[in-house]
Amino acid sequence: MITFKSKREQQMMHKAGQLLAACHKEIAKRIKPGVTTDDIDRFVEGYLKKHGATPEQKGYNGYQYATCASLNDEICHGFPRKTPLKDGDIITIDSVFNVNGALADSAWTYAVGRPSPEAEALMNVTHQALYEGIKQAKVGNRLGDIGHAIQSFVEPKGYSVVRDFTGHGIGPTLHEPPQILHYGSPGKGIRLKEGMVITIEPMVNIGAYQSKLDSNGWTARTVDGSLSAQYEHTLVITANGPLILTDQGDADTYL
Ligand code: MF3
Ligand code: CO
Repeated sequence: MITFKSKREQQMMHKAGQLLAACHKEIAKRIKPGVTTDDIDRFVEGYLKKHGATPEQKGYNGYQYATCASLNDEICHGFPRKTPLKDGDIITIDSVFNVNGALADSAWTYAVGRPSPEAEALMNVTHQALYEGIKQAKVGNRLGDIGHAIQSFVEPKGYSVVRDFTGHGIGPTLHEPPQILHYGSPGKGIRLKEGMVITIEPMVNIGAYQSKLDSNGWTARTVDGSLSAQYEHTLVITANGPLILTDQGDADTYL
């Protein structure tokens, strides 16, 4: 069942979102060659503790870490590791913060050192695709409008949109209905209403959209080994348009 969040709940989720956004900015400063994703995961754990918040992903369906750290051809749910990041890698850090029971979910892809032109272009398209989706997240539109905006922005540029993972409603629990597909047809799907809180989190591949699962049962990677990027925000559908709870200050330029 889709639930609608009260103003009070929205404000609490916004607090969680602002803390997560601030943490992403700290992560951005720390990502460089030689740093490990285990270092980043421990930094995030410490950051949460310092702010009286908790890592919602840790223990979720048996997941063991505060962050997902998905490297290069990994699409999502990569484990933090002790392998040093290398110049030219791209790394997606995804985390869900719980502040006094209110959640916010945001993923961001970072370049390690100097990205290749291909990696940089992929990151730019994926980042912009997130905002193309968010622009459609308004009262009266339908879910298909979000998916279509993302797909029709990404595919003509020669990239593909991952089908196997979706955005979602979010509230007191991490994954609530509805599922937010990052592809689809305009005018299709349920209508968006005031007070819905959702994530939009397109994963975009340079090659084919298909994914395969690692033997660890979690990590999804591209079938063809091509690079994958992801940007994710948590947002509220308001009467005045989408309110991005995990905004890092870059949104205005794109909306
Ligand atoms: N943050 C992820 C999402 O967007 C959740 C990853 S699943 C977990 O839904 F188990 F790692 F938490
Ligand atoms: Co999510």
